[in-house]
Amino acid sequence: MNSTSTEERSTNSAPVRFSRPRTEINVLLLEGIHQSAADTLLEAGYSQVVQRDGALPEAEILQAVRDTHYLGIRSRTQVTERVLDASPQLRAICCYCIGTNQVDLVAARARGIPVFNAPFSNTRSVAELVLAEAILLLRDIPRKSALAHQGQWMKSATGAFEVRGKSLGIVGYGHIGTQVGLLAEALGMRVFFYDIETKLALGNATPVRSLAALLHTADVVTLHVPESPDTRNMMGHGAFAKMKHGAAFINASRGTVVDIGALVEALQEGRLRGAAVDVFPEEPKSNQDEFISPLRGLDNVLLTPHVGGSTQEAQQSIGVEVAEKLIKYDGNGSSVSAVNFPQVSLPPHAGTYRLLHIHQNQPGVLAALNAVFSQSGVNISGQYLQTDDQIGYVVIDFEAADGFDAERLEQLKHVDGTLRARILNP
Ligand code: NAI
Repeated sequence: MNSTSTEERSTNSAPVRFSRPRTEINVLLLEGIHQSAADTLLEAGYSQVVQRDGALPEAEILQAVRDTHYLGIRSRTQVTERVLDASPQLRAICCYCIGTNQVDLVAARARGIPVFNAPFSNTRSVAELVLAEAILLLRDIPRKSALAHQGQWMKSATGAFEVRGKSLGIVGYGHIGTQVGLLAEALGMRVFFYDIETKLALGNATPVRSLAALLHTADVVTLHVPESPDTRNMMGHGAFAKMKHGAAFINASRGTVVDIGALVEALQEGRLRGAAVDVFPEEPKSNQDEFISPLRGLDNVLLTPHVGGSTQEAQQSIGVEVAEKLIKYDGNGSSVSAVNFPQVSLPPHAGTYRLLHIHQNQPGVLAALNAVFSQSGVNISGQYLQTDDQIGYVVIDFEAADGFDAERLEQLKHVDGTLRARILNP
């Protein structure tokens, strides 16, 4: 059997085998991605997994990705157009983190390369930290701890409260917000939330119609909204003025959501009892850079360096989550949750071949593909198509027939507008 770069040719008697075996798929994992990723891939039969500790400078990446089918990175590797051009075999980019702005998403999409990430693997970690902070703030622990460090003994119950029975106001009732709500209820808090979308309330949580109404009633306000033009500075002077006197404030969402000057003022005037802030409008680029913020030095403020989601468990589960997305895309074609690519959820294809065809979204591609199949006398048993404004992703399940061989795949690849095509074996 002669092998080519992307498929294997048939002999007269053996069934056609198009896809590369997993043992010949090259996976490169950079930046010390958690071992769970490599373990998941090895268990699934991907034996060519190379692990590197740090991020590579562009010159080294250009070398390293030449034969890579799947590139795994975290936030420090810049996947530029040059890197994409240097990796002709690249099938997908796997970001073992939340953010994907280190990848040129548009250039990747234009080349038919989906980008995957792990948006929810650290949800629980953030929720746990927020709950801990709610407890510490209602007990005035940040101030008591700061004073103890200076030798002052502030043993007093004044202004210290249990969270039980207090109201928690969640702004943004998505993945993290709902988890925070469930954990808070387990501690006996009364949970209220405000979201721009209508959301199913979990447990006994109560939706509130407006942000203002939520701010008026909550003993603790916690933000879990995305960064967007709509949420930019959503907590400014006006919003802090609406909060209950003596309430606590938590932000572990995005730094741009809060006007820090307004928060400092509310804290210094004693309108808020304290705050816990994990994210900032400007954050140091590395652990070697100084953290600069007007919040520094305020005793009633817990400052953390954007570690809401940074736990071993989160890293472990990110490793598994993204590796599983790679395995699914490679072996089944499913592109669910790709951030730059049409999303197709696919059933297994036992007993049939499966064409994965990525093309520019232009008229005539499907007709041309179908013509190749009908000329070969092949029976199509399933077809799935998703498009966005730029590209189309069509998946065609078909039964093998005499005459459908690697040359037919070449014909499919030469259909006008094709970006990439491969066929999965049954
Ligand atoms: P999500 O997308 O599941 O939930 C966000 C919710 O906010 C959605 O229900 C959405 O409808 C709602 N929303 C959007 N705009 C709103 C507005 N103007 N007012 C009220 N609600 C609004 O997101 P997820 O996963 O819960 O993450 C929430 C935030 O946490 C994000 O900003 C994310 O970047 C941040 N995050 C922070 C981490 C950390 O280390 N501190 C780690 C992980 C996420």
